[in-house]
Amino acid sequence: MKPAANSPAPAPHAPVAHVLDAFRLDGVRALVTGASRGIGRSVAVALAQAGADVALGARSHGALTETACLVAKEGRTAVPVPGDFAEAGVAETVVDDAAAALGGLDVVVHNAGVLPSLPDGSPAMAPLQDSAQEDWDRVLSVNLNATAALCRRAHRHLVESSRASVVLMSSLAGVAGTPRMEAYAASKAAQISLARSLAAGWARAGIRVNALCPGWTRTDMTAFAASTAPLSDWLMAHVPMGRWAEPDEVARAALFLASPAASFLTGQALLLDGGASVPDGGLAGIPKPPSPFAA
Ligand SMILES: NC(=O)c1ccc[n+]([C@@H]2O[C@H](COP(=O)([O-])OP(=O)(O)OC[C@H]3O[C@@H](n4cnc5c(N)ncnc54)[C@H](OP(=O)(O)O)[C@@H]3O)[C@@H](O)[C@H]2O)c1
Repeated sequence: MKPAANSPAPAPHAPVAHVLDAFRLDGVRALVTGASRGIGRSVAVALAQAGADVALGARSHGALTETACLVAKEGRTAVPVPGDFAEAGVAETVVDDAAAALGGLDVVVHNAGVLPSLPDGSPAMAPLQDSAQEDWDRVLSVNLNATAALCRRAHRHLVESSRASVVLMSSLAGVAGTPRMEAYAASKAAQISLARSLAAGWARAGIRVNALCPGWTRTDMTAFAASTAPLSDWLMAHVPMGRWAEPDEVARAALFLASPAASFLTGQALLLDGGASVPDGGLAGIPKPPSPFAA
């Protein structure tokens, strides 16, 4: 049993023989949500390559099975724990199913998330005044309410672990704000706030909590933008490194936050954005094409 929240600080992590050992997760039991594709699939494989057994959350059974095969190829156990986070009570079930299948939980990377969308499922980049309250509710329900429910339930499992770490997949949008994606940005900002609050509240129980904030990353979620030249060119003109992030680059940062390499790192929002959060002020001389949103 772990010490209570008001106990003295837990003992520091044991030193490792080689610095790269600190990035290993041998024997760790991890839950990765949104693991059916995109960033979550890359995170699941990265954690498995580092030695973790992984429970895989999302709605699509078939795609979760494909991710499970990739994890199994790394010689680790993979357990699909399907569920729809838009439904009440599902986050709790997913956590309990994962803990039951793996014999406990040490790491949670909660990565499932959605953009505002039109009724046909295509992304809706509309200003707040032109968007529907139902869409706000749907985005906040999946991105924020399920995050709180999942963290609340995970606590009882993580508190039993000696290497507990939570990574909430937030976004640059949560730090900087994003017009035409207000619900998404607000939900991602709230995830950062939750990570910071939980980090302090759970620190004496030895549970680290951080938010990871990627910028524009090439996945299904952003295919609508990456595949449209004027929009992609416009977005990338605001990324000093001038390109999209790839899911495996985000996965490496998630592995770092989850691993003992980040043993003194908690309550932080790690930006992984190719410099997009640094305004160039025009002084870097990065050319800006005409905005596709200009009236
Ligand atoms: N791509 C980017 O540019 C970017 C940038 C910053 C942050 N992020 C964040 O990174 C995370 C992953 O994004 P991605 O780009 O990899 O997106 P993606 O390719 O669309 O994947 C989203 C994942 O979330 C799952 N998911 C969506 N709705 C769900 C629900 N109601 N219940 C359970 N699972 C659900 C999806 O699985 P199913 O459809 O099978 O349920 C899928 O596995 C998200 O939280 C996103 O906000 C992405």
